[in-house]
Amino acid sequence: MKNYRFFLGNKILIILQIVLLVLLSSCSGTGRQKNLTDKTREDFSNIKQEAKAEQEKNKQLSFFIGMSQCSFAEPWRAEMNDQLKAAATKHPEFKLVISDGRQDNNKQNSDIESFIQKGVDLLMVSPNEAEPLTEVIKKAYDSGIPVILIDRRIKGDSYTQYIGADNILIGQKCGEWVANYLGPQGGNIVEIMGSIGTSAQKERHEGFLDGLSINPNARIIASQSSDWLRDKAIDAMDQMLKEHEKIDVVFSHNDPGAEGAYTSAKNAGREHEMKFVGIDALPTPDGGIMSVLEGRISVTYQYPTGAKEAVESAYKLLVKGEKLQRHIKLDTIEITKENALQVYIN
Ligand code: FRU
Repeated sequence: MKNYRFFLGNKILIILQIVLLVLLSSCSGTGRQKNLTDKTREDFSNIKQEAKAEQEKNKQLSFFIGMSQCSFAEPWRAEMNDQLKAAATKHPEFKLVISDGRQDNNKQNSDIESFIQKGVDLLMVSPNEAEPLTEVIKKAYDSGIPVILIDRRIKGDSYTQYIGADNILIGQKCGEWVANYLGPQGGNIVEIMGSIGTSAQKERHEGFLDGLSINPNARIIASQSSDWLRDKAIDAMDQMLKEHEKIDVVFSHNDPGAEGAYTSAKNAGREHEMKFVGIDALPTPDGGIMSVLEGRISVTYQYPTGAKEAVESAYKLLVKGEKLQRHIKLDTIEITKENALQVYIN
């Protein structure tokens, strides 16, 4: 009996212990759940606050980008400016100001000085001539302003990134085209160069000589600079036509030069005597592709502006804090009657 009572007492004790355990564990379970819920709520509100702060920060984020353009006077430059503005408006945090260097090294120097004084967050430059612009660009770069060079180069390496197509290669392609066109009997070539001292002029000329060298009978009989301008090319060509009775090819460092030379030859009634070769291939109604389609220029090589890439780089660097690669090399396409329409439509 005593044993039975003892046994019963123990049983009750065990049951009580079990109930207590269940209660305790369920209690602590609720506690954990409660803690979890609080934690989740806390996390959520933190994330929300962070997102709000980020939004606020982005609203306040604003970057002043100064673009020093060497000239507004040529169609290719106008197109580059339009593309820069279009790309920049996609980034509300960018304030882009483009200055006109008017093809004058002194003017472009003071434009860049003024961007430095105003404290630009990033400087884009398409330098007129390499040598006279190097020092002021170096000054900006050394003071900590990131510098993106577009299309033309400077001396040395005081810049963050260079974006452009390969002018030597483009010149070479022009030279090879002319060499093949003239064939074994060769012929007379006149060259209309860009502004002397600009990197594009030097590299296109150098590449052209190289490409042409496959034909020993192809001769450059005269060279003049048009300063990249159509009207000056007309004057230069007028003179070369007077001095040379037979011209087989005009190689111009850009399409406006080839167009100017064509106009001059047409005025002299000699446009069918020769072929015209250019560079740029702007896909605009008065650009080089249309000129090929309409039969004035025989071949031109696309020279992309690099505007879209420059704005993308600015975004990577200023907004995302990424490091930029030193060089972005842009591709070219040969435009002849065969593909001109296709490229123009695209
Ligand atoms: C405009 C321009 C273009 C040419 C480029 C070379 O200034 O002459 O026609 O392709 O510059 O830098």
